Amino acid sequence: MERLQKILSQAGVASRRTAEDLMRQGRVTVNGETVRELGTKADPAVDDIRVDGRRVKSAERPRYVLLNKPKGYVTTRSDPQRRSTVMELLAGVREYVYPVGRLDYDTEGLLLLTNDGDLAARLTHPRHEVPRVYEVKVAGVPDDHDIDRIAKGVTIDGRRTQPARVELMPGRHESHATLRITIAEGRNRQVRRMFDAIGHPVDYLRRIAIGPLRDVRLKPGHWRDLSDDEVRALRRAAHTPTSPSGSSARAGNAPAARRPPGTTPAAGPRRRARAPRTRH
Ligand code: URA
Repeated sequence: MERLQKILSQAGVASRRTAEDLMRQGRVTVNGETVRELGTKADPAVDDIRVDGRRVKSAERPRYVLLNKPKGYVTTRSDPQRRSTVMELLAGVREYVYPVGRLDYDTEGLLLLTNDGDLAARLTHPRHEVPRVYEVKVAGVPDDHDIDRIAKGVTIDGRRTQPARVELMPGRHESHATLRITIAEGRNRQVRRMFDAIGHPVDYLRRIAIGPLRDVRLKPGHWRDLSDDEVRALRRAAHTPTSPSGSSARAGNAPAARRPPGTTPAAGPRRRARAPRTRH
């Protein structure tokens, strides 16, 4: 959040002093409300700020930052509880970027931050949400039935989750299992709650892909700018309406062609039928 007069001057609308005059004259609105109070703050990323009815656009160059978020950081620009925020990891980024979507305090992995409000809005719009892939370590080992339930949708807060792609990664444990899940919804703590719903709580959660964006070499706590190709790919992904069809990693009858658009077929993990559990 920034003071309105600062936002207006950064956007090249007027000097700060003139911006204050515009406010006093009742010519500035935020989300449809006239704002005369000089200390008023707004968020140029989300608020509809207008002068004389004209939308104020940020003058900054668009910036697209991919961060590998470590645990222990809040996904917000500022935290009222004063916990560490992801913004503290962005040394050197001067533009007013903000997180697109959210990773929980305890979740690691890829997080996109940008000042491109249009793209951010499209990426998080329920109709265009791009598929995101998570690696999940859960307590116990979900069986075929559990995996099918997650893939077809479980009920959270009275509403069923959309179909998801779920794959059990090969491993020889009885106490825990690692899975990959692809979802195109962004409900609060969605992955954790989906696995809670089948009785296998999440121990560890990491996002490994956002639509076309992946980076196995980006270390936790580090960030980089997206390449032009990545930005183009992201725009394409955000334009494409997503209607993921569920497919579990179950043996034989899983329809191979049914997977969320924008994801690649699973190359690494073996299918469940070919990776029988070995008991110790
Ligand atoms: N789902 C979750 O439960 N947590 C995240 O951070 C992201 C998706």
